[in-house]
Amino acid sequence: MDEIIIRGGRPLAGTTLVSGAKNAALPILFASILSPERCRLENVPKVADCRTARHLLERIGVELVELEEAGSAVVLRTPTILSYEAPYELVKTMRASFLALGPLLARFGAARVATPGGCAIGSRPVDLHLEGMARMGADVRHSHGYVEASAPSRGESPARLRGTRIALPFPSVGATENLMLAASLAIGTTVIENAAREPEIVDLAEVLSEMGAHVGGAGSSVIEVHGRDELGGFCHRVIPDRIEAGTFLIAAAATGGDVTVRGARSEHLGSLLEALSGAGVDLETEGDAIRVRASRGLRGIDVATAPFPGFPTDLQAQLMAFLCRAEGESVITETIFENRFMHVQELVRLGADIRVDGSKATVRGVPSLEGAEVMATDLRASVCLVVAALGAANTTRLQRVYHLDRGYEHLEEKLTALGADLRRVRGPAATFAHTFGDESGDGAGSSGASNGSVEGGEPPVLHAGARGDGSAS
Ligand code: UD1
Repeated sequence: MDEIIIRGGRPLAGTTLVSGAKNAALPILFASILSPERCRLENVPKVADCRTARHLLERIGVELVELEEAGSAVVLRTPTILSYEAPYELVKTMRASFLALGPLLARFGAARVATPGGCAIGSRPVDLHLEGMARMGADVRHSHGYVEASAPSRGESPARLRGTRIALPFPSVGATENLMLAASLAIGTTVIENAAREPEIVDLAEVLSEMGAHVGGAGSSVIEVHGRDELGGFCHRVIPDRIEAGTFLIAAAATGGDVTVRGARSEHLGSLLEALSGAGVDLETEGDAIRVRASRGLRGIDVATAPFPGFPTDLQAQLMAFLCRAEGESVITETIFENRFMHVQELVRLGADIRVDGSKATVRGVPSLEGAEVMATDLRASVCLVVAALGAANTTRLQRVYHLDRGYEHLEEKLTALGADLRRVRGPAATFAHTFGDESGDGAGSSGASNGSVEGGEPPVLHAGARGDGSAS
């Protein structure tokens, strides 16, 4: 397996350009299943998760062409499908594959999608997705690790979901996306209460509206989707990746550098900018450029992850790497996932002083970190180790870097252009999972942990009354 060798201690300097957002591109790629017409998506990042999505879409029967001359654009067409199934080998490789459920069910009346199972950052169930589909009239069953769902048939007419009111108990990003996708071809209006408000939801809503579904309220906690009998195609450019932008801002600060991140949207990064400035980092925003400078003494801060516009869980690990050398004490509270501190022990190997107590990590700033051999455990944990290593003395060897390839486009090239000293050493052939990503979306690779309800022998539970009686939440 590949390794990255990082010689730390060089302040990053210069300008870097943000790629398209993986977490926005993925649901939009799945939205193409909803229409027989041509769908064109631009600014799709060249990362392993998007390749996994492509692989799955082609298995389903989506015709997909990559337009190399247009950079990162793809054209997709789904006149019909070959299969209703998202197989386990792809869903375990990337959790977002579960987003095939909504579009398949809405357009073709049936779907068979593997349940994602457990993952190293937490249990990550899909009950909210399924309860919502059931509220829209779907018959949802569990069989041999798969969810088999069908839309209610209506005599001679094709099976269709029907709009309804769904109140989510938590503003789940994945569930909000899956339900928006399903609702776009449902009969009537679907209202999603306590919906996720992330920028990626707003991007998906724009696409669905362009396809003909009227989507109101995206970005607020109540989203209304007026379903249509048929949807048209779209031509859309994916929003910039706020997590990649944030990662570069943090890396620049962690190395005491001076970096301008271009193509970023500061309104997507408010909580991070606030945290960095609280820690003593200088920030300037002008148009789509954010300049970060960390020349003076940095101090510890307290941060808790939260749904947007709160501090993103996907930047928690990187911020922790930065805070390892900020003076004083920082407390980081992870509220989204119960086990998202896998990077702590690796940071400790680099000399950090961190104590974890449940969902809280207390970081005591140390004057310097020291290079060591460390192991990536998931996508954001891996990049946090890169951030730490760039600011550490001597050399760090980062193993299991296939995690990084899932979500960062040209990471080494971009960092090298900013003056970092790092190189990849190619190892023996990777396995399928390594080639296509890890086993669990943005979180960690297969930990052997289960989501309990699957490997524990019991199927995920659809609560009684989840179907049609107003009690999905
Ligand atoms: C989450 C993050 C998203 C991030 C992604 C990858 C939040 C709110 N969501 O999205 O920003 O990009 O991980 O790291 O920050 N849950 C259930 N039942 C469900 C679905 C979710 O209980 O059916 C729970 C999860 O266990 C978790 C929380 O809700 O504790 C957040 O889940 P959700 O937002 O759905 O996760 P992702 O869509 O993966």
